Amino acid sequence: MTDQQSPFPPQFGPPFFWGVATSAYQIEGAVGADGRGESIWDRFCTLPGAVRNGESGEIACDFYHRYPEDIELMRELELDAFRFSIAWPRVLPDGRGRVNEAGLDFYERLVDALLEAGIEPWPTLYHWDLPQKLEDAGGWPVRATAEAFAEYAEAVVGRLGDRVAWWTTHNEPRVMSWLGYGDGSFAPGRASGADALAAAHHLLLSHGLAATVIRRDVPGAKVGIALDLTDAVPATDLPADRAAAHAVDGRANRLFLDPIFRGEYPDDLPQPFGGDLDEGDLRTIAAPLDFLGVNYYVRQVVRAPAQVELVVSPQGFTDLLLRLRDDYAPPAIVVTENGTWFGDAVGHDGHVRDPERQAYLAEHVDAVARAVEAGVPVTGYFVWSLLDNFEWNVGYWKRFGLVYVDFPTLRRIPKGSFYWYRDFIARRHRAGAAPPMSAGRSS
Ligand code: FCB
Repeated sequence: MTDQQSPFPPQFGPPFFWGVATSAYQIEGAVGADGRGESIWDRFCTLPGAVRNGESGEIACDFYHRYPEDIELMRELELDAFRFSIAWPRVLPDGRGRVNEAGLDFYERLVDALLEAGIEPWPTLYHWDLPQKLEDAGGWPVRATAEAFAEYAEAVVGRLGDRVAWWTTHNEPRVMSWLGYGDGSFAPGRASGADALAAAHHLLLSHGLAATVIRRDVPGAKVGIALDLTDAVPATDLPADRAAAHAVDGRANRLFLDPIFRGEYPDDLPQPFGGDLDEGDLRTIAAPLDFLGVNYYVRQVVRAPAQVELVVSPQGFTDLLLRLRDDYAPPAIVVTENGTWFGDAVGHDGHVRDPERQAYLAEHVDAVARAVEAGVPVTGYFVWSLLDNFEWNVGYWKRFGLVYVDFPTLRRIPKGSFYWYRDFIARRHRAGAAPPMSAGRSS
């Protein structure tokens, strides 16, 4: 593997987090347990044709009950950090108002077990599972949902803030806006361009409001947001292809990066609410971040008028990271997701071999190393994902895990890539990168 030939530069040393990422609805199951309320994904999965084979996250990996077993796998990986999300409907079943202490108890048990295993908890407050009651009241296109998110953040940090330092507000507001409200392919399944832009604005606003609450209530907290960013390149040098690539970059990247880092929306895109925006909102959205989370999977090669080809490109990852430094200068970047899916299967000898995933990960870690060498401040890398899980509207078909899950029995089988990542992290740790310390804990 490449790190033996070209050892990572010192910047790849401590504090650098090697982790894995997951999300609540994709792994937890137990949708009716301990007072959890309904989420938009529970509802969406009941709609005919919405999800492949009519599948849902009702059981998923049953992480809610099996997390101790999964933390043993994380220990074996020698992870520095575990990225998971908190299910808003477990904490506030109606979205706002009554706090369900049993829901918070679960996350408290999880956090304590991670800390006990020497693994830094990395919660994301929102990974797309809006309480259905809030959707019924208008969802993300309405401002009240942003205010409700700040209340939810307050309830969570009130319970976990003494043990958790690293906080991610949102995961991929682009997906929530454009797929949830723009074309309806994801929950809640609404299709309106104006709603998508309004949702984007309120997601960003709620990020800013929650960041303020987290900083107020958790001294020393590190706050960030995870964006799914892409390297959108024109298929040719023709002006029409260049313009089409710029438009893709606008909707996917700049619509979120510009308000966060510059306090303004890009002027080549339609503005939320036709530009009738409160100045204060943009100031709230642009409050300084501690880190930018980057989820990267593929490069987008764009041809006019709007044809997009998805291409696996480690070079696209390096280019994206360099561009983020040049255009937005985030204080730190954490790769909050990177990975790939295959139709993995258990061999006749009981092993799951996935050399293609291993190659993908090795090449992308290398791509990060090249960016770090060029001076990009990357301070963490999380593989998507620990476990095969419920992959949204394609159900259980796409397997992204380092660990294979046999869904009928829920048995976990580490794949070849699991052992590769384990050995890779062990070498990094032996090379002197001590496990990073939590900024927020006093011990
Ligand atoms: C990202 C999502 C994550 C998972 C991966 C494959 O867009 O954040 O939940 O679905 O893609």
